[in-house]
Amino acid sequence: MQVKTPSDSFTVMTDIVLPGETNILKNLFGGELLARMDRAASIAAGRHSDGITVTASVNHVAFTQAVPLGSVVTVEAAVSRAFNTSMEVFIDVWIENRFSGKRSKANEGIYTFVALNDDGSRKKVPGLIPTNDLEKERYDAALRRKQLSLVLAGKMKPNEATELKALFV
Ligand SMILES: CC(C)(COP(=O)(O)OP(=O)(O)OC[C@H]1O[C@@H](n2cnc3c(N)ncnc32)[C@H](O)[C@@H]1OP(=O)(O)O)[C@@H](O)C(=O)NCCC(=O)NCCS
Repeated sequence: MQVKTPSDSFTVMTDIVLPGETNILKNLFGGELLARMDRAASIAAGRHSDGITVTASVNHVAFTQAVPLGSVVTVEAAVSRAFNTSMEVFIDVWIENRFSGKRSKANEGIYTFVALNDDGSRKKVPGLIPTNDLEKERYDAALRRKQLSLVLAGKMKPNEATELKALFV
């Protein structure tokens, strides 16, 4: 099976924040941002696995910076590690000042997708090789995040999460 790199799944979605998408403070509503991140991540997971994918879990989201009405928002997503039938997708959210053009990181998120065959059965995904320091850092930490997510979902016993335990002992 073909091995891919994060560049093969890299996905960029740029859009503007409109009035119907904001909260009472006129900043982008959190759920709207999550949906945009999910869409970009879904495309990235589909590009890596060449097929149907579903969101299995949202492992982490940090809303570090509010996104004001009228902002130009760019969501970038790429597969950071492929496992057997699941993939971790890292999402970076940038906002751009329309007058100065200055770009700043607003949020990030980490989602897990599972690849499916047409009949809904799980599909094995191609391997992934990181190619630079950031990709290697995200790749190396992905197994710990997968184990944490599985423990929190009640799908793995804490004493089986060997990579995760190694952080603490
Ligand atoms: C996601 C889904 C396919 C997983 O089904 P499941 O029976 O739990 O599948 P498995 O236990 O065989 O797990 C499949 C893979 O997902 C991973 N996985 C499952 N739940 C996970 C979680 N909470 N966090 C991280 N990985 C998870 C497993 O580790 C496994 O990975 P691997 O094959 O790479 O080792 C299934 O729950 C589903 O279809 N959910 C609905 C998805 C959906 O509709 N999403 C849209 C939002 S509503």
